[in-house]
Amino acid sequence: MRWFLTLWLHLISMSKFKIEREFVRTFGHIPEIIAAAPGRVNLIGEHIDYSDGYVLPFAIADRTYAAIGKRSDNLVRIASAQRRNSIITLKVEEIRPELKGSWERYVLSVLWAMEIKHGVDVMIDGQVPLGAGLSSSAALECSVATALNELFSCGFDLESLARLTQRGENEYVGVPCGIMDQSVSLMAKSGSALLLDCRDLTSRNVAFDVASHGLELLIIDTQAHHSLTDGGYAERRASCDRVVSKLSIRSMRELTLEKLENSKDVLTEVEFIRARHAVTEIARVLDAVIALEAKNFKRLGELLNASHASLRDDYAVSCPELNMAVDASLSAGALGARMVGGGFGGSAIALIEAKNTQATIQAVENGFASKNFKAPRFFTSLPSQGAEIIQRG
Ligand code: GLA
Repeated sequence: MRWFLTLWLHLISMSKFKIEREFVRTFGHIPEIIAAAPGRVNLIGEHIDYSDGYVLPFAIADRTYAAIGKRSDNLVRIASAQRRNSIITLKVEEIRPELKGSWERYVLSVLWAMEIKHGVDVMIDGQVPLGAGLSSSAALECSVATALNELFSCGFDLESLARLTQRGENEYVGVPCGIMDQSVSLMAKSGSALLLDCRDLTSRNVAFDVASHGLELLIIDTQAHHSLTDGGYAERRASCDRVVSKLSIRSMRELTLEKLENSKDVLTEVEFIRARHAVTEIARVLDAVIALEAKNFKRLGELLNASHASLRDDYAVSCPELNMAVDASLSAGALGARMVGGGFGGSAIALIEAKNTQATIQAVENGFASKNFKAPRFFTSLPSQGAEIIQRG
């Protein structure tokens, strides 16, 4: 653990130096604040954050950095270390959801949701892999929100920041995401997964240390297309809303399998299986916490497999590349595997014995090649710290 801490501090100071240098080079003055926020992997509890369920994500080590300085006029200037020589400039009073744009809308959504009316220069250094289902957008939003909260002494607590950034993404960017990604990016603690109750945002840290049991959580980025704005995600949310309204309940959280069976004739077949995913997935999250606390990784693996089957068959958000990543990992001996995030592409996770890492990677690569899929990418990550200020003044 000690080597990890040393490496961690070294990486933070390198990243701090890099973004500070980019800020000065681009804007000609020194930033007043630098914050960082991580991407996430969700261990289990998929597509239930918007149904008041429980989720169990953890923060990954990859993070996005935001350096911000106040301006004396009403301009907002935004730049990124990944897109050198391009600065987006507008007046603070021009920030509104109708404004067209690209990645900078995630930054603007936070200024809008937090009602910041002051001119600022913002430099972003995004180090969370894009489009991999690892929540690079939440990392971006939460790094900016954490920096602004401190710079303008807004005093928002982490729950409020999670709700504000989610509101920005929903209403400004137009992505109908739930509350999980922003919450874990803000609240995660190193060494733990975050058991989050999405009904009221209360949370508990659950120690997640697979390494000392000779295991590893392999993250497989399928490199398949992943976009929540494509309609599939909104369609799943809409079917949950219909179930809730037809059954006159407040959310899926109030449903049991028995109640659902008894209501079969008022629901369509699709609504029934979507609701079955929600009810069974909420139960699996609580079972996964018990398994983790008992260090019963075999059971955890079974729950990951059951979650994947439910997402694939009942919720229908998987895709051939994700299924291949899961199946190939299992055939190479993984204890369990499943797709993570919104689905329709992005990443899968596999809980494997550390000594099998290379064999698992090889099996997944072979499976992808046999289907002519784009080659996948592989990561691992220890559960890391949530958003933090890394430099003031
Ligand atoms: C995306 C959304 C989250 C959550 C997951 C699915 O990552 O941003 O709010 O709904 O999909 O669990």
